[in-house]
Amino acid sequence: MPLASLKDMYAKAVKENYAIPQFNINNMEFIQAALEVAEEMKAPIILAASTSAIKYAGMNYLMAMVKAGCGDCSVPVAMHLDHGATPADAKMCIDAGFTSVMIDASHEDLDGNIRITKEVSDLAASKSICVEAELGRLGGIEDEVVVDEKDAFLTDPDEAKRFVKESGCDALAVAVGTSHGAYKFKKTPELAMDRITEIKQLTGIALVLHGASGVPQDLLELARKHGAELPGAMGVPDEAYKDAVSRGINKINIDTDLRLAYMSAIRQFFAENPTVFDPRKYLAPAKESVKNQMRSKIRLFGCEGKG
Ligand code: G3H
Ligand code: 13P
Ligand code: ZN
Repeated sequence: MPLASLKDMYAKAVKENYAIPQFNINNMEFIQAALEVAEEMKAPIILAASTSAIKYAGMNYLMAMVKAGCGDCSVPVAMHLDHGATPADAKMCIDAGFTSVMIDASHEDLDGNIRITKEVSDLAASKSICVEAELGRLGGIEDEVVVDEKDAFLTDPDEAKRFVKESGCDALAVAVGTSHGAYKFKKTPELAMDRITEIKQLTGIALVLHGASGVPQDLLELARKHGAELPGAMGVPDEAYKDAVSRGINKINIDTDLRLAYMSAIRQFFAENPTVFDPRKYLAPAKESVKNQMRSKIRLFGCEGKG
């Protein structure tokens, strides 16, 4: 089927209280992995590309692969721009056929963020493209940071209420203590879950959790065994996903875990098969490992069978 409207996908997710996974893609194997797993588990999914992923793969290649893959799918699949920096980024993706765009003006002050997001909402409205915005700063709650300072980076619920009303966004990424990459927490993972509940009550819209990878220890161990150096990597615990979803998170972004899965499988393959150099031989297990991560996230986010 053609790419689906993320607005429709959110309507069902909000009503039935589950989260749709955003899987970041860079190449053919990631796209195939996501679509095969979505079909197998009858789950709705969001494929996402950052501007650097678009630059790496090339917009034409990327969209041709996504559209070719989706043609065979019976479940809803949306194509989303991750962390668009400008309205021009959003326009480029809307023109290329994306069904959802993120405009990340979270580094601006509240008025600036509203103004830039509104520009993208106006651009997207006539084409029923979904618009995600971000309020607050991702960065992790560090033990060393004093309370007032760390709270200043988290999404303020009252600001969120005004932001959603005035910006016209369809989904809001909230900062509750997660951060991008493999080093999210120094000691015990700590997330400001109460804020999710409060922001959901005040806005009622689909909320998004960025920087949500779990950084699975088994993948780290496998990668380290075969030469990777990733000291102190730590991610979001599995239990936190259920809690976050029950409080109103409807989209959870996963990139790092897929990269770790791909990389650790390739390392293992080369360690065990030092004479092999056919990319199909080492990319097949890497893709399988990415698929296992995706299956696990779909189960944890409660969206299996919702497609
Ligand atoms: O949020 C960031 C995503 O993980 C995308 O990362 O810009 O390296 O593609 P990237
Ligand atoms: P991770 O780095 O935790 O996978 O987060 C990805 C993300 O938020 C993409 O927008
Ligand atoms: Zn993100």
